[in-house]
Amino acid sequence: MAQRLAPEHRVLELGCGTGTTALRLASGVAEYVATDVSAEMIAIAREKAEGAGLPQLTFEVAPAEATPGPEGRFDVALAFNLLHLVKARGALLQAAHRGLKPGGLFISKTPCLKEMNPLIRAVIPLMQAVGKAPYVAVFDAAELEDELTASGFAIVERARHGSGRQDPRPYLVAAKI
Ligand SMILES: C[S@@+](CC[C@H](N)C(=O)[O-])C[C@H]1O[C@@H](n2cnc3c(N)ncnc32)[C@H](O)[C@@H]1O
Repeated sequence: MAQRLAPEHRVLELGCGTGTTALRLASGVAEYVATDVSAEMIAIAREKAEGAGLPQLTFEVAPAEATPGPEGRFDVALAFNLLHLVKARGALLQAAHRGLKPGGLFISKTPCLKEMNPLIRAVIPLMQAVGKAPYVAVFDAAELEDELTASGFAIVERARHGSGRQDPRPYLVAAKI
């Protein structure tokens, strides 16, 4: 996906966790804003970025349902391993759409639980009941694509990276219409 980024790009990463992806990609773009709802994750990310010499990279504590800055600020928005964890997915997609320039790209890779072993789906409520699992949405790739389309995006690339192309975490690139 790094091939989708250009030196002049302003990039927003949602749900960045401890910043691993941000640290790999930020050197190739003009601005990289990485956000996460967890202050603990952002604290670790900032620590990891110290001394990395990436002045274009900033980390912010923010919910993915609200993109920072003015409308049309970003060329690319990234969401890896995030969409299945967000209840207000529609709000997230609308916020990402708002934050992107026309033609800007929303790039995601998302576990689609509907495509996984049903045993996993059976175990999750049990883990949630004892506080060991977060909210997890169950959908498949077709439903996710429909949500993106309904939010004003057009799918421009879809891929499965697992062995035998069976990966239940589809990689999707969607352009803001
Ligand atoms: C499974 S981790 C993925 C981290 C990183 N994107 C990666 O692929 O390694 C999910 C991250 O999403 C964050 N998260 C969950 N719900 C969120 C929300 N509504 N807004 C922003 N971040 C959220 C969590 O705090 C966590 O850091």
